[in-house]
Amino acid sequence: MSASKIKIGLAGFGVVGKHVYQQISADHSTQFEIVKVAIKHPELHTETGIPFTTNIFELAYDPDIDVIIELIGGIQPAHEFIRESLRQKKHVITANKFLIAYHGEELRKLAGENGVQLLYEASVGGSIPILSTLNCNLRHHQIHSITGIINGSTNFILTRLHQSPKTPVETILKEARDLGFLEADPSYDLKGWDIQQKLAVIAWHAFGVNVLPGQIPAFSLMELADEDKFLTSYGKLKYFANLEKQDGHLSAWVLPELVTEDHPFYDVNNEYNAIRLNTRYSGNQVLVGKGAGGNPTACSVIADLLAVEHQLPEVKADKQIVVNHNRILDQVYLRAKKGQTKKLILAVGTQGLISRLIGSDRIVVKNVPLVALAELQPLADIVVSLPKSVFIEKIQAPTYSYQTVM
Ligand SMILES: NC(=O)c1ccc[n+]([C@@H]2O[C@H](COP(=O)([O-])OP(=O)(O)OC[C@H]3O[C@@H](n4cnc5c(N)ncnc54)[C@H](OP(=O)(O)O)[C@@H]3O)[C@@H](O)[C@H]2O)c1
Repeated sequence: MSASKIKIGLAGFGVVGKHVYQQISADHSTQFEIVKVAIKHPELHTETGIPFTTNIFELAYDPDIDVIIELIGGIQPAHEFIRESLRQKKHVITANKFLIAYHGEELRKLAGENGVQLLYEASVGGSIPILSTLNCNLRHHQIHSITGIINGSTNFILTRLHQSPKTPVETILKEARDLGFLEADPSYDLKGWDIQQKLAVIAWHAFGVNVLPGQIPAFSLMELADEDKFLTSYGKLKYFANLEKQDGHLSAWVLPELVTEDHPFYDVNNEYNAIRLNTRYSGNQVLVGKGAGGNPTACSVIADLLAVEHQLPEVKADKQIVVNHNRILDQVYLRAKKGQTKKLILAVGTQGLISRLIGSDRIVVKNVPLVALAELQPLADIVVSLPKSVFIEKIQAPTYSYQTVM
């Protein structure tokens, strides 16, 4: 890389791209120079003095550019663009969790072969420096488990649910959509797909294991309904991402849980994210910060930019660990639809039933106090307390495939 200013090609000038541009111009203009900015719809961009192009591959082939920042999102053309940029020996920084979750292994290999860096701190946890923390510091501590709130949209919705239990769930979802916290199709957030992708990215950096996002059991919030709001009188619902290593087996799962005031994440509200790492040598460590938004996410992009010249320690694959998502749920509340109650109650306790229940989109919540289960049973269509011994090995991963989200 030249000793003068580092030249940057910025692909994407949306929520994150604009803030990256502004932060570099305001704080790092002596060190970095953005030489080209790729966009898709020039008619939307009236800003003057910005070197726009509608051909992202111009950035990959520009011999002056040292570092590519990819902020267009999605799989294509981002995938081919990053591949070509790495082949052209440019460092690449991206916030694209979807791409890294599915193609991280291939892209990391390509970066290594070309002697350049591929960094993607902003793909998980917005402003929280989780990946660099894992890379540089924490793997030595020997991580047992990682628990996190890593989807700001659903945390916002669940926060509103707690704050105004009288507001219908539909109204809260609409509010989230109006504020830009939810896509027109909310499945990506509410079915846990976004969290699955982020878990896959974290799993590599924490444990050196490639986990396929679509195989992680994720219990949907899509079925959250007014009937479930009774839960909020016993605590706050949080949508948890989990990774746990036990006896050489690594499991991941996504599940709504009820937390009470003594839980460290009780006050993690709205779009905030929080990640707790439980380690062998240092016990619990917690990182909390804004999980989305232009400025917070741009901060992580720029942290990568500042790190790009340092050769970061490489994550090594751990071939001893077996990926196995079978988990034990100690106590869950399941609500099934009316009309099916009798049939389902009769079958409680058999694995077949449990897999049928959880495999569908019915609401499943962990950590519901027994008192709540007993008192509130009449309000729920069905409430089941699963003993520790019940494995959920037959639970289907959600109906999620690479194609459905593209
Ligand atoms: N928003 C957040 O809070 C957040 C947080 C964490 C991570 N991320 C990740 O950051 C990335 C960017 O997100 P965002 O919210 O900034 O997206 P966005 O607001 O939709 O912006 C996307 C930008 O990419 C441009 N673009 C799309 N396709 C293109 C193409 N084929 N060629 C050139 N330009 C193209 C668009 O151009 P036009 O403007 O011309 O349409 C737009 O400027 C995504 O991977 C996302 O998952 C976002």
